Amino acid sequence: MDAIQIYGGNCLEGQIRIQGSKNAVLPILAATLLINGVCEIENVPMISDVYHMLRLMESLCCTIERDGHTLRVDASGVSGCDMPSDSVVVMRSSIMLLGALLARTGNVSMRYPGGCVIGRRPIDLHLQGLRRMGVVINEREDGFDAETAGLNGAVHRLPFVSVGATENLVLAAVLAKGDTVIENAAKEPEILALCEFLQKAGAKIQGAGTGRLIVRGVERLHAVSYRVPADRIVAGTYLAACLCSGGEIFLKEAPCSQMKAAMMAASDMGARIRESEEGMLITCKGRRKMPSVLKTETYPGFPTDLQSAFLAAMTVAEGDGVLEETIFENRFRIVPQLCKMGARICCFENRVCVTGIGRLTGAVLEAEELRGGAALVVAGSAAEGRSIIYNRHFIERGYEDICQDLRDVGVRCRKTDFSEKDR
Ligand code: EPZ
Repeated sequence: MDAIQIYGGNCLEGQIRIQGSKNAVLPILAATLLINGVCEIENVPMISDVYHMLRLMESLCCTIERDGHTLRVDASGVSGCDMPSDSVVVMRSSIMLLGALLARTGNVSMRYPGGCVIGRRPIDLHLQGLRRMGVVINEREDGFDAETAGLNGAVHRLPFVSVGATENLVLAAVLAKGDTVIENAAKEPEILALCEFLQKAGAKIQGAGTGRLIVRGVERLHAVSYRVPADRIVAGTYLAACLCSGGEIFLKEAPCSQMKAAMMAASDMGARIRESEEGMLITCKGRRKMPSVLKTETYPGFPTDLQSAFLAAMTVAEGDGVLEETIFENRFRIVPQLCKMGARICCFENRVCVTGIGRLTGAVLEAEELRGGAALVVAGSAAEGRSIIYNRHFIERGYEDICQDLRDVGVRCRKTDFSEKDR
């Protein structure tokens, strides 16, 4: 069974270079389907979600060449409309191909997407929006068929902010006939990255990074080169690791301007943070303080994807605190695992109350999803003694090499594989 083994308990010291952003690159890869010609995408994180996305794209007749962290994607030959079910169901971002593929071929048949088990995660907003743009969708028990004679611009008012629905509608709108307006659009930096990529390719988009996007449909897009920005969630995970273990680390290329809410929470907990063009220097001396209330929100608020890692850090802070999750209904699955390490946490629906303890103790743990798994690695790095975190593959969906990154700041950890009988 795939696992990570950690001998934790020491302060962190050193430097980590932050990889390219998973949640930016996945919709950008989908966007290359809209382009006839070879796009060059640099700083691509080599993570399993990217591998699944590339496999899906190859099954649709894209040609993809890889050179280190650079991909050359040629979608000139895109013809398919059936996506391989196994890649669709392991990853939520497979839904991102829908808007682009409808624009390209007018015809898509797919299973419902999967992804991390952090909530129900329906796709109703995506489908409603596409219907408004002229797509006929027939839903089956396990998937749907979608067809359009041509996408038309439309006015969408999202009832609540959805990152994925905003991205899908933008992808459908750039080559649609007429204008599309998206009210209450997501403002996450990953939307901005997608819009920048598309604008570079000739798309007409106004309001990128605001709650109101206007997309003026164009005839065609042209091939471009684009560098994927650094991953704010990976950087935030290591910020939480420094909070949890103490020490001083430099996060090279951390996108500080996108991390204000996480930096504010870390400063409240007693971290000293210095930002520069090159990245983020974090110093954590003495015992951290408990934030009285920390609450997840859509951007620019505190990100749900960092909730678990900060929860790990809160377990060893001084005092009592509350952490509230407002985006996903099932994102406290790591609580029993942290309690195995000695943490004192009580769950009340979408909130947890934490009473800080001096130190966590190493334990045998099981990751159940990506960010929760990474948070267990954060906790294991701070805990006294040995921790084993099973199901490393969940973490590898979003972190290129979390063990190497942590070894760079002095954590004794490595990937390992145990047979069932060792457990
Ligand atoms: C994106 O997921 C990210 N994934 C998530 O990161 C992130 O947690 C989330 O945005 C919120 O920031 C990618 O970018 C690939 P949403 P997405 O649509 O787009 C509900 C990670 O760990 N909803 O903004 O799926 C939904 O259930 C991942 O890297 C509907 O009800 O999130 C949730 O409660 C996990 N109907 C809320 O909206 C819909 O049609 C926000 O989800 C769509 C969403």
